[in-house]
Amino acid sequence: MHFLSDINVVSQPQPLIYRLATLSDLPAIILINQQTLPENYSLSTWNYLLNFGLIYCAEEPQTQKIVGYCVELPSFFGTDSFSKLPVVVQNWLGNNSMSLIYSIAVLPEWSGQKIGSNLLQICLNATQSKVVLLQARKSNETAQRLYLKYGFQYLLEYLNYYSLPFGQRENAYFMYWQNLRMF
Ligand SMILES: CC(C)(COP(=O)(O)OP(=O)(O)OC[C@H]1O[C@@H](n2cnc3c(N)ncnc32)[C@H](O)[C@@H]1OP(=O)(O)O)[C@@H](O)C(=O)NCCC(=O)NCCS
Repeated sequence: MHFLSDINVVSQPQPLIYRLATLSDLPAIILINQQTLPENYSLSTWNYLLNFGLIYCAEEPQTQKIVGYCVELPSFFGTDSFSKLPVVVQNWLGNNSMSLIYSIAVLPEWSGQKIGSNLLQICLNATQSKVVLLQARKSNETAQRLYLKYGFQYLLEYLNYYSLPFGQRENAYFMYWQNLRMF
């Protein structure tokens, strides 16, 4: 006969919950962004993204810890990303409903578990845009592989787009995804 205290109960990991973020998730999302990317945004930018964009997050249900996020900003006319595009691309985008994947990140200890894939897929499945754009550092091959896997294509290489330490600059790839449901 076993007493309950003799049995080593190992709790099974539960599937992550994917959902839209709310205001109370912002602190955790901001921490993930600061931990994983050099592009960190002010609190007012995050509030703007929450109000005018869609922030998807992945939550570990047992601890309710947020482990990843993906931000889509529909209609990004007037943003830095838009103004840096060549006019011919601006005109093409201007004729389409479009959105920008503003940022995507997964905590390092949770990476490689398809969380980034799931977040991106959920975002692309739900988007109302005809064209989704994003930028990646040229050196960020992991992110580019993820985007290529989900059908993004290279649009252009923007010289010296990102800053690096010691005043250096790095090129960006602008990539786009066409929503075949809407063409
Ligand atoms: C990019 C990122 C969001 C991917 O999230 P993830 O949950 O780790 O990715 P997934 O497990 O869904 O893997 C997706 C694809 O990314 C690539 N990838 C993921 N981890 C990788 C690694 N360690 N090395 C090489 N490629 C990797 C693979 O192509 C993988 O697809 P595959 O497993 O079918 O080959 C995550 O690495 C991250 O947060 N990076 C730091 C922030 C960042 O760079 N954001 C993007 C800015 S443009």
